[in-house]
Amino acid sequence: LTIYLPLDSTAVAMGADDLADALSAEAAKRKLELKLMRTGSRGMHWLEPLVEIEKDGKRIGYGPVNEDDAASLLDVVTGDGKHDKNVGPVEDIPFLKNQTRLIFARCGVVDPVSVADYQSHGGYAGLDKALKMDSAAICEEVMQSGLRGRGGAGFPAGIKWKTVAGAQADQKYIVVNADEGDSGTFADRMIMEGDPFTLIEGMTIAGVAVGATQGYIYLRSEYPIAARVLNEAIANARQAGLLGDNVRGSGKAFDIDVFMGAGAYICGEETSLLNSLEGKRGEVRAKPPLPALEGLFGKPTLVHNVISLCSVPAIFEKGAAYYRDYGMGKSTGTMPFQIAGNVKHGGLYETAFGVTLRELVEEIGGGTFSGRPVRTVQIGGPLGAYLPPRLFDLKMDYETMIEHGAGVGHGGLVVYDDTINLADQARYAFEFCVEESCGKCTPCRVGSVRGVETVDRITAGVDRDKNLTVLNDLCELMVDGSLCAMGGMTPIPVQSAVKYFPEDFGIKSSLKA
Ligand code: NAI
Ligand code: SF4
Repeated sequence: LTIYLPLDSTAVAMGADDLADALSAEAAKRKLELKLMRTGSRGMHWLEPLVEIEKDGKRIGYGPVNEDDAASLLDVVTGDGKHDKNVGPVEDIPFLKNQTRLIFARCGVVDPVSVADYQSHGGYAGLDKALKMDSAAICEEVMQSGLRGRGGAGFPAGIKWKTVAGAQADQKYIVVNADEGDSGTFADRMIMEGDPFTLIEGMTIAGVAVGATQGYIYLRSEYPIAARVLNEAIANARQAGLLGDNVRGSGKAFDIDVFMGAGAYICGEETSLLNSLEGKRGEVRAKPPLPALEGLFGKPTLVHNVISLCSVPAIFEKGAAYYRDYGMGKSTGTMPFQIAGNVKHGGLYETAFGVTLRELVEEIGGGTFSGRPVRTVQIGGPLGAYLPPRLFDLKMDYETMIEHGAGVGHGGLVVYDDTINLADQARYAFEFCVEESCGKCTPCRVGSVRGVETVDRITAGVDRDKNLTVLNDLCELMVDGSLCAMGGMTPIPVQSAVKYFPEDFGIKSSLKA
């Protein structure tokens, strides 16, 4: 008898470990031979912990369940299968069924640390194809897929790969940015906890392509489960000859180590991350030189977000043309959108670019958890724009979002109901920047402090017009004068709040668009 139960942080936070203990104890009491397989999460967070029990070849879901349900869950197996928390065959639940899972296809299905399970679900087909190609052909395949960096900036991955591949050096590196610091984002964590081999395979293909023999995963310290799973998966991959001096018998070398971050948001900025990885203070470096040419320890380094690299195995397994057929315009492939905040059905929804915000928030997410009207959604983390419902029919793709002063970012959506005050949120954006600024440049370090004070004056009604002009000038200065996206993007939530919700600032007109 096999019962599937997520080891994912969300499920654990909701009591999955206690349930696992209770199930084992109950099975022992009944002398039942129970195999409890800890998987990743399916991404339907409102159902966690979601237990799955296989029946007639289908996995039937029960959720949300807790330790008190252990006995009744075992009764399901021995009895008539009835249970009041039965949600039916998991793969038929519309939230999951309607997704296009190219990256997350195995997440929640396989044993995350089993090489055999990964391979029996299509794993390593991509690497096997890549190993038959030369470096230029691999980079060209990535170029043709149209894949863009999923960390937020959306830079074409193929150009980055070609730059690193073309650099001459005795050592090159692959560095994975797994410092997933944006509020409302959890895609990196979920794939690392639920299907780490997808990342390992993507990194290996990248290493072979650009001539890097060593990869580092810079993992945020708040992700202990991901650390454990990744380290176990890497050790198993090494043992299976999938990492090391002779990857899959190809004669090529590639290995991976996990490096724990120290908990600073700014270490998610790539140059700051490289400093931290070198053992230095996590402070931003000026660009150029680009990390692609002078990165870790001054060597050419391919720095990518987790999801960018996790998109790579499917591109090679199915071909660039197949991948490019998903999405719209210059936004090709799929994006794991993370629906969070005040929402009924929060979780991870992987789909092609081009889905609308309304579909994600109202149809898929089911509206607010509180049942009150949605007032705004912040897209792309704490430095993302707040959009009003009248813009919810916009399609989620890089260009459309930029046109409206927003960005897809890392695909995080935080939903708010009509009790939210956007002036408070604008103040919070500046406060966040005060806390998280690395302090290297003045517009960000000082500007954020002045921003908090200015918002306070506006909301208090002190010289409102004058202070709105100050706020506008300050935002322009931070955009133009900040060294990195931290200071450069803090004005985005502020200006979108003033533009779309001027009444919260006690004004009728808005700032210049
Ligand atoms: P960027 O536009 O400077 O660079 C994007 C990437 O392309 C970098 O890796 C850069 O080194 C590379 N690149 C640029 N030109 C290149 C060239 N000619 N050849 C090779 N490589 C090149 O953006 P940046 O500052 O790295 O990232 C900003 C983004 O990060 C924002 O859009 C924001 O949404 C996102 N972000 C993500 C967070 C998260 O938790 N995932 C947190 C905060 C911000
Ligand atoms: Fe540091 Fe802020 Fe300047 Fe970025 S913008 S380098 S975080 S002070």
